[in-house]
Amino acid sequence: MSARASILAVTSGKGGVGKTFFSANLAAALARQGERVLVLDADLGLANLDVVLNLQPKITLHDVFTGKATLDQAILAAPGGFSVVLAGSGLVEYSRLTPQVREQLVEIIDQLAPRYDRILLDTGAGISDVVLHAISLADDVLVIATPEPTSMTDAYATIKLLAIQQGRRSIRLVVNQVSAVGEGRTIRNQLQLVVDRFVCPQLNGGNSAAVALDLQGEIPTDAAVRESVQRRSLLLERAPGAPAALAVVAIAARMARAGAAINPAAAPSTSVAEGR
Ligand SMILES: Nc1ncnc2c1ncn2[C@@H]1O[C@H](COP(=O)(O)OP(=O)(O)OP(=O)(O)O)[C@@H](O)[C@H]1O
Ligand SMILES: [Mg+2]
Repeated sequence: MSARASILAVTSGKGGVGKTFFSANLAAALARQGERVLVLDADLGLANLDVVLNLQPKITLHDVFTGKATLDQAILAAPGGFSVVLAGSGLVEYSRLTPQVREQLVEIIDQLAPRYDRILLDTGAGISDVVLHAISLADDVLVIATPEPTSMTDAYATIKLLAIQQGRRSIRLVVNQVSAVGEGRTIRNQLQLVVDRFVCPQLNGGNSAAVALDLQGEIPTDAAVRESVQRRSLLLERAPGAPAALAVVAIAARMARAGAAINPAAAPSTSVAEGR
């Protein structure tokens, strides 16, 4: 097991493209592979992870921020065998990045990191200061886009900002709601072209600087997704054989393989993970 969790921020630009659905189900798939996983609801303004997981948290990040509860008390067991820390809905006062929010998020992640193999940050829609700050605390960032033109434009704007402001040179991409096999690759290539043409020349090093969009996989549009959200259950549990569920499992397997190639000691075991 690695000493510190690998932190992955899940973001999109455009809202409603499937960040929360993906984060929750990816966490379940990674947990099934033996990883100790925690999902942090980093959508401080309009959290909905609790809705998707059918959890009614008594203690949320809000209580940790205001000193009413400890972080340990805010860590909940999610149905998929992973842990979650929920933001609680209507944390409006935290949707702005004050120095206090900035510091507390850093502290919370520092405390959580040694205890898990992977932490997923489910960020809110858009690229507000809070979202950018949460992303800056992550080792890697994964952008979710759909084939819709508005989603692609917003994904591009997000990628541009991450490359320029945060110096990101490798950004993971998941294309959700595809209608044909291979559409994800096409969209990745289209985005990569605009990034090469318009973003790379603005970076230090000019044309020699590269930003790689690393396609993690594509997820088909699947009625079972909407159904699972409506029933407030994980797709992986409700319809494990659904095409979208299989796609998420394949992405998790790919991530685990990539992690094992970089750090063989961190390869997930198949035994039941401790610490949930
Ligand atoms: N692959 C899919 N197939 C069908 N419907 C999908 C798929 N992915 C997402 N959806 C639909 O999109 C809705 C929004 O998904 P989700 O809440 O995960 O988006 P989000 O990006 O987290 O939104 P927000 O930006 O508001 O946080 C889901 O409730 C579901 O109905
Ligand atoms: Mg969401």
